Amino acid sequence: MDRDNESLEYSLYVPCAAGVEEWLVAELRAALGPAASVQPGRGGARVHLADAASCAETALRINLESRLGQRVLWCVAHAGYRHEDDLYALARAVRWGDWITPRQTLRVDVTSQHSPLRSLNFAALRIKDAICDQLREVQGERPNVDTQHPELPVLLHLGPEDATVYVDTSGEALFKRGWREDTGEAPLKETLAAAMLAAAQWRGHAEDGPLLDPCCGAGTIAIEAAQIACGIAPGAMRRFAFERLGPFRELERAWQDMRDAAQARVHAPAVPIFAGDVAFRMTDFATRNAERAGVRHAIEFKTGDALQRPPPASAGTLMLNPPYGERIGAKGTQGSARTAPRENFEQGTPTEFFGGLAAHWKRHYSGWSAWILSPDMKLPSVMRLKESRRVPMWNGPIECRLFRFDMVAGSARPGAPTAAGAPRSAPPA
Ligand SMILES: C[S@@+](CC[C@H](N)C(=O)[O-])C[C@H]1O[C@@H](n2cnc3c(N)ncnc32)[C@H](O)[C@@H]1O
Repeated sequence: MDRDNESLEYSLYVPCAAGVEEWLVAELRAALGPAASVQPGRGGARVHLADAASCAETALRINLESRLGQRVLWCVAHAGYRHEDDLYALARAVRWGDWITPRQTLRVDVTSQHSPLRSLNFAALRIKDAICDQLREVQGERPNVDTQHPELPVLLHLGPEDATVYVDTSGEALFKRGWREDTGEAPLKETLAAAMLAAAQWRGHAEDGPLLDPCCGAGTIAIEAAQIACGIAPGAMRRFAFERLGPFRELERAWQDMRDAAQARVHAPAVPIFAGDVAFRMTDFATRNAERAGVRHAIEFKTGDALQRPPPASAGTLMLNPPYGERIGAKGTQGSARTAPRENFEQGTPTEFFGGLAAHWKRHYSGWSAWILSPDMKLPSVMRLKESRRVPMWNGPIECRLFRFDMVAGSARPGAPTAAGAPRSAPPA
C-alpha cells in the first residue's frame, strides 16, 4: 500500500494485483465520475472523499462496480508508530461503537511493508484488544473474535513508519462474484480475467469484435467478458460485509436503488462470445457458471480441441490462459507422433502443443489477435511468434506475462512446428 503524507481521513483504499493499478484508476474514475479524487498507489488506488457519508456511499458503489479491485477498505485511523503500544492507542481512539455492537464479531488481519515490529501476530492482537477494550468501556460488553465469518473485518497495514487501520467493507474478496460454484483444476481469479480484458482494452463494444477462449476451463474469461458486454455489475450477485456495519445502516434504501439502477443498465451484448474446452466436463462447468452469472445467452460453448477449432468469425480476440506445464495437461489431438509425456502434459510436450496452436492460428485465424497469459517468459520463441505486447501480470504468486500475438498470414518464424498438414510458415511479419 502507498504511504503519503496527506491526510487519509475520509479515504478508501482499493487494493489490486501488482501491475493493474493504471486500469483500476481508470475503472474507478469511470464508476465515480471524472471529478473523483482517485490517486494511484503501489498495488491499489486511494479515493479521497469529503466526509464519512460520501465514504459510505462511495464504498457501496465500488463494491458493486469494480472488476479489478480486490476489496474496499475504509481508513479509520492512521498515524506514525514505533511500538505495539502505539498501535493499541491508534485503534483505541476509533469509535468502534459506530461500527458494531458488542454482540457482533471481528477479526484483525495484518499486512506489512518493512515494518520494524518483530511479530505481526502480536500487532494484530493489540488492535483486537483495543477494539474490545474500547467497546467494553463504552458499552459494558466486548465482542468476540470469529476468524471464519467476522462481521467486522479489520485490516492493519504497517509501513516502515506509519500504521493504518482499515475496515474491510467487502468481507469476502471481490474476485468472488457469487456465481462460480464449479471450478476446474486451475481457475483464474475473476479479477485477473478482468485485468486481461482491461489490458486488451476489450470492452464488449461492437468495434471490439467477437471474443473466443478455446481453453476456457471453468469459463472465467468468457463469463467476465460476457458480463462486461451485457453491462452486468460484478457485485450484483453477492453479499458484502458493509451490510452489517453501522455506517451503512441508513443506506439500505440507497443500496437497493444503486442495485436497481445497475440492473436497469443490463442489455443484450453487442458482440458474440465463444468458449470451449477439450474436456466436456469443463465446458459443462463453464456453462453452468455462465447460467448463474446471468450470461448463458451471451456465450456459445463448444467442447473441442483448440488445435482444431475453426474460427467462429473472420476476426476477433482470442484470450486464454492455456494449460501450464506443471499444473494441468494439454489434451490436444494434433501431433499424434508425440513422445512420452513431459511436465505433466498428458499428451505431447508444451512445445508441441504451443507450436501446434501457433500453426493452427496462423493458418486459420489471420485477422485475430491472441492474448495468452503464461508464466513462460519464452513463450514467443516456443510458439515461434513475435509478440506485439508483453504485459506483466501475477496469477496469484506466479509471475506471468500477457502476450499479444497478431495473427497475420506469415507471422510465424521459419522452422516453427506446424499443425498436421499445415504448410511451413513464412518469415516473421
Ligand atoms: C489453465 S486451464 C484454464 C482455466 C480457465 N481460464 C479458468 O478460469 O477456469 C487450461 C484449460 O485448457 C484445457 N485444455 C487443455 N488442452 C486443450 C486443448 N487441446 N484444447 C482445448 N482445451 C484444452 C484444459 O482442459 C483446461 O481446462
